[in-house]
Amino acid sequence: MAQKIERVGVLGAGLMGHGIVQVAAEAGHEVVVRELDEATLQKGLGKVEKQLARAVEKGRSSREDADAVRARIRGTVHYRDLADCDLVIEAITESLPLKLEMWREVDEIVKPDAVFATNTSSLAVVDQAAVTGRPERFVGLHYFNPAQVMKLVEVVRCVTTGEDAFQTALEFARGEGKLAIPTRDRAGFIVNRLLVPYMLDAIRAREEGVGSIAEIDEAMKAGAGHPMGPLTLADFVGLDTLGSICEVLFDEFRERRFAQPPALRKMLSAGWFGRKSGTGFYDYSGETPTENPGI
Ligand code: 3HC
Repeated sequence: MAQKIERVGVLGAGLMGHGIVQVAAEAGHEVVVRELDEATLQKGLGKVEKQLARAVEKGRSSREDADAVRARIRGTVHYRDLADCDLVIEAITESLPLKLEMWREVDEIVKPDAVFATNTSSLAVVDQAAVTGRPERFVGLHYFNPAQVMKLVEVVRCVTTGEDAFQTALEFARGEGKLAIPTRDRAGFIVNRLLVPYMLDAIRAREEGVGSIAEIDEAMKAGAGHPMGPLTLADFVGLDTLGSICEVLFDEFRERRFAQPPALRKMLSAGWFGRKSGTGFYDYSGETPTENPGI
């Protein structure tokens, strides 16, 4: 049976975390978001604030509703403030050792009947579940960027996930107005298994000179009706994130389609992580993005 979720804890207020916080608060939950330090926390809360202000400006939300959402969100740098959460969702860096270290600490503090969820893009959910004392109450809740806009949440059942926790996660995502699609604990789940090789192929097409960066993007927008071209999307997702996802997928399946193209590896060495670092396939320093001449 699904458990009632009132209080939600979110670990990380970055690219995904701040969106997950906003969506949960908009659905009426009390949300506590934990970041490493005050500066990073304020940066994440600032992004939520910007989106709430924009919604009021555009007439999508009333000022009173936006104020109510704001009042339901509390930031902290301490795990202890998550103690009485009914659900804790992690959205920290895509690194298994960091996630395991974090879950070990959180598991000690948060009440035993709370459900834990990872927003991992590709890591095995069971690897995280297994370091907690509640592997049967552990699921994957995979949101898409931007979490405020994208309709889908993949709800991942790993081998240890119990029926109650799984139903709780499904109902929670539906209660946020999301399309909750159940899936199994296979690297990449449904979307990244299909979307990541597509982005990697676009990088290979660029390496082979099939088209310029902008030509490849414009072709897929106009020819396949995609809202963004694949190289713009790669920059949007984050090239560091894309790089770590394809490593996990390659490790799991050992197939060339998941292998990191040389151009991506070199861009990562250069510190070009896409839109978030200001440089990726495009340079984002001007008014409109321009093709990165270094690629
Ligand atoms: N946060 C919150 N809201 C945002 C936003 C953001 N970062 N970006 C855009 N929006 C909202 C805008 O407020 C706007 O709403 P409004 O019209 O009511 O103001 C609406 O989205 C449309 O935005 P824009 O008009 O600025 O721009 P677009 O129409 O081009 O839409 C987009 C932007 C929704 C990002 C669209 O380009 C898109 O759908 N792109 C594809 C995104 C995608 O594929 N995401 C999945 C990536 S894979 C992933 O996340 C998995 C992970 O594991 C890697």
